[in-house]
Amino acid sequence: MYRTNTCGELRITDAGKSVTLAGWVQRSRKMGGMTFVDLRDRYGITQIVFNNEVNAELCEKANQLGREFVIAVTGTVAERSSKNKNLPTGDIEIIASDLNILNRSDVPPFTIEDNTDGGDDIRMKYRYLDLRRSAVRKNLELRHKMTIEVRRYLDSKGFLEVETPILIGSTPEGARDFVVPSRMNPGQFYALPQSPQTLKQLLMVSGFDRYFQIAKCFRDEDLRADRQPEFTQIDCEMSFVEQNDIIELFEGMTKYLFKTIRGVELNEPFIRMPWSEAMKRFGSDKPDMRFGMEFVELKEFFNGKGDFAVFNDAAYIGGICAPGCAVYTRKQIDQLTDFVKRPQIGAKGLVYARVAEDGSVKSSVDKFYSQEVLQGLKAEMNAQPGDLILILSGDDVMKTRKQLCELRLEMGERLGLRDKNKFALLWVVDFPMFEWSEEEGRLMAMHHPFTHPKDEDIPLLDTNPAAVRADAYDMVCNGIEVGGGSIRIHDPKLQAKMFEILGFTPERAQEQFGFLMNAFKFGAPPHGGLAYGLDRWVSIFAGLDSIRDCIAFPKNNSGRDVMLDAPSRIDDKQLDELCLKVDVKE
Ligand code: AMO
Repeated sequence: MYRTNTCGELRITDAGKSVTLAGWVQRSRKMGGMTFVDLRDRYGITQIVFNNEVNAELCEKANQLGREFVIAVTGTVAERSSKNKNLPTGDIEIIASDLNILNRSDVPPFTIEDNTDGGDDIRMKYRYLDLRRSAVRKNLELRHKMTIEVRRYLDSKGFLEVETPILIGSTPEGARDFVVPSRMNPGQFYALPQSPQTLKQLLMVSGFDRYFQIAKCFRDEDLRADRQPEFTQIDCEMSFVEQNDIIELFEGMTKYLFKTIRGVELNEPFIRMPWSEAMKRFGSDKPDMRFGMEFVELKEFFNGKGDFAVFNDAAYIGGICAPGCAVYTRKQIDQLTDFVKRPQIGAKGLVYARVAEDGSVKSSVDKFYSQEVLQGLKAEMNAQPGDLILILSGDDVMKTRKQLCELRLEMGERLGLRDKNKFALLWVVDFPMFEWSEEEGRLMAMHHPFTHPKDEDIPLLDTNPAAVRADAYDMVCNGIEVGGGSIRIHDPKLQAKMFEILGFTPERAQEQFGFLMNAFKFGAPPHGGLAYGLDRWVSIFAGLDSIRDCIAFPKNNSGRDVMLDAPSRIDDKQLDELCLKVDVKE
C-alpha cells in the first residue's frame, strides 16, 4: 500500500496515528536540526518533519529532496507548535520515521504554487505541471461537479444521453469546419462537428424525445477569451415541445446548477427580452444586465437644435450616462476617446457633457448647442449633478450601437459594476431569422438553417425575408452568451424554402442536407432544443476571465497546443496514403 491517507485529510483528531502519505515535494526548508517538507497531492498539503537528533540518516536523506520529487513518507501525526491557519491540515504535522523516494524530478520551469512565477506561455508548454497548482485544479474539479449535476438533472427529467459521431459531414453553423482526410476514400474529407445539430434532430425522428450529450464541438474561427476551437456543449433536444417548454425546463436546470454549484438561489423567472429591444437598450444581443447605463436614443432630440454637422448627418445618435463621472479629467476623457477610436471599435469620436454640481452642463459641443439645449439633453438623459454624458453617433445604426455597447461595458468595468459574484441572467428571444453577410453578399441564417420562423412571420418569407423573426432564444449571463437554441423546422417543404432563401440550389441543398430532408419525409415530430456552452458556464461559476482556465489542455490564441506542438506537419508517407499534396504559399 503506497499510502494510508491523502495530503489533505489529516486533522488534530488524528494526532498519534501512524500514517503513510505519498505525493510531491512542494518545498523543503532546513531550520536548525530539523527539515520541513511540504508534501502535496490533489487533496492538499501536509507538513512533514525530519528531526536530525532523532534520526540523522533519515534527515540526511530528506535533505537530498528537490522540488517535485515524488515520495512516500511514514510517520506519526502530531500537533504543530506553530499552526498554519491557511491550510486545512495546518494544525498538524507528520513526524517522519521512514522516507521512500519514488521518483526524482528535474527542477520545474516555474514554481508550482498558487502565486507562480511562470508566465502564460511556459505554463501552457508544461500544462501538466500547471495542473498540479490548486487554482487550476479546482477549476477542473468544478467542471467535473457541473457535468455530474447536469447529468443528474437531465436524467431526472427523462433525458437520454446518446453519443453522436465526431467524424461527420459538414454542418454549416456559421463557422469554418475542421476537416479530416479519409485514407479509405481518397480525396474525400470528414468534417468535425461544429455541434451535433443535425444528428440530434435525426434522433428526434427516431423517437428519442429527450436527448442530451456532453458533446465536443469544433469550430475553426478566430479565438477570444470565451472561444476555443475545441469546446464542449451540453447539447439537448426535445420533441413535442414549444419554445416555452424548452425555456422553462432549461431555466429550471440553470437555477438547479446555481443552487448546487454556487449556493445561489435564483427565485425570479428570467427576463425574456426580444432581440430588437436588447439592441435598442444595450446595443448587444447579450446585454450585461448587472448594471444600468442604458442607451438613450438622441437622434430625434438633436434634430434641428444646432449646427453640429456630425450629428445632423448621423443616422443614429445614442448616449449613456455615467454616474458620478463628471469629475473625469481631460486625460481620462481622452483615454475614453482613444478607446472608442480603436480599430476594433471604430468610432470616429466621442462627445461628452459634464453635469456640474450646480446643474449646469459643459460639453465638448458647447459651441454648437445653447445651454438651453444642453439642459434639455440633461433631462432627456435623466442625468444628475455629477454625471458624465457620453454620446456616439454614426451613419450605420447597428454599428454605432455596437460601439456604444463597448463604451458602456468599459464604463461598467471602470466603475466596478461588473461584479463576478453577481449574476444577471436573461433570455434574448425573437432573433431575426436572417442577417445580411457582406462577405457572402447574401442572407445568412442568424442561428442556423434549421431554425423555425415565428408562425406569424411565415408569410413574410416571400415578401420581406429580412423582417422574419425566428423561434430562437439565447440564454445570457453577465453579458456572455451561455446557451442558445431554437424550435426547428420539421416540415420538408418549409426546410426546402429556407435553403432557397439562403441561396442553396435544390441540388446543393439535396447534396448537403439530403439526409435530413429525406428523414423529415418519414414522420418528423415537432421538435426543438438548445445547447449550453459548458466551458463558459464553468468559467462564470469559477469567476475566470478566460475559458482556457477551465480546460485541461487548451489551445492558445493562435489555435496551437504548445505542449503537444500541434498542429504540425505530417510526413510524406502519411500524405501519400491520403493522396494529399501540401502547397503552402509563403
Ligand atoms: P450555438 O452556436 O449558439 O448553438 O452554440 C451553443 C453554445 O455553445 C457555446 N459556444 C462556444 N463555447 C466556446 N468556444 C466556442 N468557440 C463556442 N461556440 C459556441 C456558447 C453557445 O451559446 N446547435 C446549436 C444549438 C441548438 O440550436 O440547439 C449551437 O451550436 O455558449
